Amino acid sequence: MRHLISPLDFSVSEIERLLSLASDIGKNRPKYAHACDGKKLAVLFYEPSTRTRLSFESAMLNLGGSVLGFSSADSSSAAKGESVSDTIRVISCYADICAIRHPKEGAALVAASKSSIPVINAGDGGHQHPTQTLTDLLTIHSLKGKLGNLTVGLCGDLKFGRTVHSLIHALIRYPGIRFVLISPPELRIPDYIRENFLDAAGIEYRETTDLDDAMEELDILYMTRVQKERFFNEEDYIRMKDCYILDAEKMKRAKPDMYVLHPLPRVNEISVEVDDDPRAAYFRQAQYGVYVRMALILTLLEVNCLC
Ligand code: NCD
Repeated sequence: MRHLISPLDFSVSEIERLLSLASDIGKNRPKYAHACDGKKLAVLFYEPSTRTRLSFESAMLNLGGSVLGFSSADSSSAAKGESVSDTIRVISCYADICAIRHPKEGAALVAASKSSIPVINAGDGGHQHPTQTLTDLLTIHSLKGKLGNLTVGLCGDLKFGRTVHSLIHALIRYPGIRFVLISPPELRIPDYIRENFLDAAGIEYRETTDLDDAMEELDILYMTRVQKERFFNEEDYIRMKDCYILDAEKMKRAKPDMYVLHPLPRVNEISVEVDDDPRAAYFRQAQYGVYVRMALILTLLEVNCLC
């Protein structure tokens, strides 16, 4: 039985297969409409979510399966003090596969260790968010036709942004990847990622506080929200929340084929005037999230889709 806890749980060739299945799903939706008839997905969301939870639900419904679960810790037995380990043992009796989001780093790994069904990490605290990464990879591949030989700017909250952490893990496996890490000094990428992943793999990167200055060299700009819920101190959040605002003026400096991604939700970091720029890809990215989660469910449930 396979789980998806970190993007590194899949090899590069497995990711390639998954992305090509997701592309096929995008083109031939009806072909997959009954692939998961009779199967159930449990969504265990201990933290707020719009896209991740609903795209998982949409994915399973598109495959002919059904969905059960909860969307906040308050409406589950966690409010009575039940542990994730106990909850997952019980859910294993009710569903065939589960997606879990939890504020604690490592919660999905704990769940997987006690589960008898495949567990998908839908975000564990400020740690990882592998299904957003699969979405990002599919988006980049669809827009650029490749995942290597790109200069990728990661901008905003690089400290707490789990989508950034997972995306770095995934992209460093492709040749010719270069990062520009754009953040205020307080929200720099964590040392363990810089040292154990970027430096250890000999990846080319530079760190800067200046988004304007970076615009011209980027092939992809991955904007992120300052992660309010991970701050210990509201004053620090208020001081940093609007540190970067991508607007039409900044977009003038970018290459004509530079694309802007954002895992969403957006707060102020991308001005709405950018939405009409053909290089703004964040809403298309949300659509890709459904196809990639359909492909992931099929892969983990080992549904042989000669559908
Ligand atoms: C992200 C998350 O939850 O980490 N959202 C998402 O799943 N699309 C990014 C964020 O909340 O800022």
